[in-house]
Amino acid sequence: MNLWLAPLDGITNYLFRNTLCRHFGGIDFFMTPFMPVQKRAKLNVTNWRDLWPKNNMLRPTTPQLMGNVPAHFVDTMQLLHETYGYTSFNWNLGCPMAQVVRRRRGCGLMPDTDRVEEVVAAATQTPFQFSVKMRLGLHSPEEGLRILERLEKYPLEYIVIHPRLGEQMYDGVPDWDTLDEFCRHTRHRLIYSGDINSPADHERLRQRYPDIQDWMLGRGILADPFLAEEIRGMDTGDRKGRFLKYYQHFAAELLPMRHERGTLHNFKELWHYWRHLAGINDEQLKQLLRIDDWGTFFDTSLQMLA
Ligand SMILES: Cc1cc2nc3c(=O)[nH]c(=O)nc-3n(C[C@H](O)[C@H](O)[C@H](O)COP(=O)(O)O)c2cc1C
Repeated sequence: MNLWLAPLDGITNYLFRNTLCRHFGGIDFFMTPFMPVQKRAKLNVTNWRDLWPKNNMLRPTTPQLMGNVPAHFVDTMQLLHETYGYTSFNWNLGCPMAQVVRRRRGCGLMPDTDRVEEVVAAATQTPFQFSVKMRLGLHSPEEGLRILERLEKYPLEYIVIHPRLGEQMYDGVPDWDTLDEFCRHTRHRLIYSGDINSPADHERLRQRYPDIQDWMLGRGILADPFLAEEIRGMDTGDRKGRFLKYYQHFAAELLPMRHERGTLHNFKELWHYWRHLAGINDEQLKQLLRIDDWGTFFDTSLQMLA
C-alpha cells in the first residue's frame, strides 16, 4: 500500500511537505500543486522554487502541470527534465475553480474528450512517465467514462480519481457507486483521492476497492497530521507534544519566506483544519481569525493548543 500527500494549491508547498514528513511518518509520495505549462520560449522554470530538487529531497515528488495545449506539455516536461531531472509528470484535469474551468483548464477540459486525448497522446510519446488526476466529470459522469475509454490505449503511469463532479466543487458526498463503474472501465492503475478523514474511512474504501493500492490524503491529513501513521497502525505517541513541535517548526520555516503577513494568512487558512486538534468551538475560532498581528496570533494559538 502506498500513501500519497494530495496536491493542495496554496497549502502543500515544499515547506509544508518537508516539515510534515520531518515530524510525521506514513507518507510515501508527494505530488506538487499545479504549475502552468507554456511554450518553451515563454517558460522560466528556474524560479519554480517548489520544484527545485534541493527542496524535494525527502520523498519522491511528482510535479503536477495544468494546461490544455499538447505542445506546451511536451515543452514544459522537456525543460523540467533538462533543468531538474524530473521524469514523471501529472496532469491536473480535475481543478473545479471557476476561473480555471472558464479557461478550459482543469476539470473545465473534461467535456472536450478529443482535446484530452490529444494532450495524452502527445505526452505519452515523450520518454517521460505521464499520469492524469481527474474527477468523474465536469457536469456528468459520462464525460469521465468517455475519457477513460479513450485513455485505454495510452501507456499512462496511473490515473488519480476524485469521485466528485466538478460542479460539486468539494461539497456533498463523493459518488462511490459511479466510481465502481469507473474501476470496471479502466485497466490503468488507479490512485484514489477524496474524503479519507480517518483510518475507518480508509478501511471502508480498501474493502470496497480491493484492487486499489494507492491512496491520497488531502484535507484529512491537514486536520490530523497523524492520519498516515494511524492508517498504517503506527504508535502515534505523545500527540499533543508532537503537534506543538511541528507547529512551531512550521512557523519558523514559513516566516523567512512568507514574512509575517503571508505566514499569518497561511496559518489562518490552516486553522480551519487544525481547530479540531485544539478542540475549539466556532466562537473561539472566529476570535483567533480576527487577530491581525502575527505575534499575538501565534501566542494565542499556542495557548489554545497547550
Ligand atoms: C484548497 C485545495 C487545493 C487543491 N489544490 C489542488 C491542486 O493543486 N491539484 C490537484 O490535483 N488537486 C487539488 N485539490 C484537490 C485535492 O488534491 C483532492 O483531490 C481533494 O481535496 C479531495 O481529497 P480530500 O478529501 O482528501 O481533500 C485541492 C483541494 C483543495 C481543498
